[in-house]
Amino acid sequence: MLFDRVKPLSAILAAAEKKSLKRTLGWFQLMLFGIGAVIGTGIFVLTAAGAQKAGPGLMLAFAIAGLVCIVAALCYAEIASMIPVAGSAYTYSYASMGEFLAWTVGWALIMEYAIAGAAVSVGWSGYFSGTILNEFFGVQLPPWLAAGPLALGGAPGGLINLPAMVIALLVTWLLVIGTSESAKFNAMLVTIKLVALTAFVGLTLTSDQFDAANFNPFLPAGVFGGWGTGLGAVGAAATIFFAYVGFDAVSTAAEETKDPQRNVPIGLIGSLLFCTVFYILVAAGAVGTIGGQPIMGPGGVPFPAGSEELARQCAMPEYQDALVCSNEALAHVLRQIGFSAVGNALGIAAFLALPSVILVLIYGQTRIFFVMARDGLLPEKLSTVHTKYRTPHIVTMITGGAIALAAAFFPVGKLADISNAGTLYAFMMVAIAVLVLRKREPDRKRAFSVPLVWVVAPLTIAGCVFLFLNLPIDAMLFLPEWGLLGIVIYFAYSRSRSNLGRGIIEVPEPDLADLEPDIPGIADRGRD
Ligand code: ALA
Repeated sequence: MLFDRVKPLSAILAAAEKKSLKRTLGWFQLMLFGIGAVIGTGIFVLTAAGAQKAGPGLMLAFAIAGLVCIVAALCYAEIASMIPVAGSAYTYSYASMGEFLAWTVGWALIMEYAIAGAAVSVGWSGYFSGTILNEFFGVQLPPWLAAGPLALGGAPGGLINLPAMVIALLVTWLLVIGTSESAKFNAMLVTIKLVALTAFVGLTLTSDQFDAANFNPFLPAGVFGGWGTGLGAVGAAATIFFAYVGFDAVSTAAEETKDPQRNVPIGLIGSLLFCTVFYILVAAGAVGTIGGQPIMGPGGVPFPAGSEELARQCAMPEYQDALVCSNEALAHVLRQIGFSAVGNALGIAAFLALPSVILVLIYGQTRIFFVMARDGLLPEKLSTVHTKYRTPHIVTMITGGAIALAAAFFPVGKLADISNAGTLYAFMMVAIAVLVLRKREPDRKRAFSVPLVWVVAPLTIAGCVFLFLNLPIDAMLFLPEWGLLGIVIYFAYSRSRSNLGRGIIEVPEPDLADLEPDIPGIADRGRD
């Protein structure tokens, strides 16, 4: 009973056919798009949390997380080229594993995108307070307005992270009124981010303060820091996995790519490899110059990132300049090694570029919600499209409010970990869906097929499970708790109202097309 209600692929594809797009993209555009979608809070901010978990082993953590993402990206590319419709992992699961599992994926994605939006808002807040307010205007926010409460992992004296809350609400408002981000604007932001990170790598790696001794010990918390602790190189990998999230957007461009069998894997693997190498160099530059050893607690075990104990340690004078305590890690490193002006410029780059990451995340969340409501699984009323702005304003406002609250009270590392749990689940289900569809629909056209799929997809599944199991226990538990709530809603509400369950298979697409804003997504790039 649980695995019935598989949505017929032909019905989904019939709906998709109506909006077939021109094949205009080459591997280089795909790569740029991927890099733009991926670089954000993960590298600009979570470098500090990653170092607290792994020390210099953060470099290894970036490599591990990057590898898992590369195999996952290949699976995404195959299925996106086969089922090029909105809803990504949720829709793929609906067509391969049935409504119940699709519901769990959609439910996890709602959580993933929303919490990721909150995490990037908190990341932005660090740069806003540190660079814009403090460095440029000499204004220091009172502690109670600059971070969440200590009990939730905030800072001593913290009550509410006002800047994080405000940026989340501001971006929500932009989405409600249908603000779009053009491809050109996106290209500009990508350039800003790349210039900032290149300057960081160049200045730190050539700095006379770079000292190889800073890499010793390389793995102060070991490779495995202990189950449930989220520590060690693999614990850090599970956290900074966040730095790669967003590449799935590139996979969905498969149907617009020239010679996709060649260009999609080059674009995807290229952008992820590029980011992996870049991230490792950034980590090397940060650790090599100002050091990145964790602050150790009792028994020589690092204090958990985002914990009350660590926040107390960071408030002490001896740790004030530590990498692991900084809210704007990369700008902080540059200031410490004597490049204050460049550090501030990097801070401005983060200040300018991170809101667009928040925008894409909240947008992604409302889109998943919209598709699920269209399938009858969530109240249609919530996805009502605004008559003037043509946006799903109700769901956007509810989501934005929840994101603003999460951003106001929780630290960035905790939010990223929880979001990662949802993402890892969705990636795993995509890999399973690829295998199911290879068996069930072997002859169906795929613009791109994963090479060695029976190796790559199982590796993806194993990689996702592995990273999930290395998250801190509270982040790990959040997923089943959220899932349980979802299952209750599914059986109490959704199952009996499902369109498919009621025999309605036709997928009405026009509404969705109506609310297609110009976020650099399929429609936008297709027009370029
Ligand atoms: N990868 C994105 C970031 O790091 C979500 O901000």
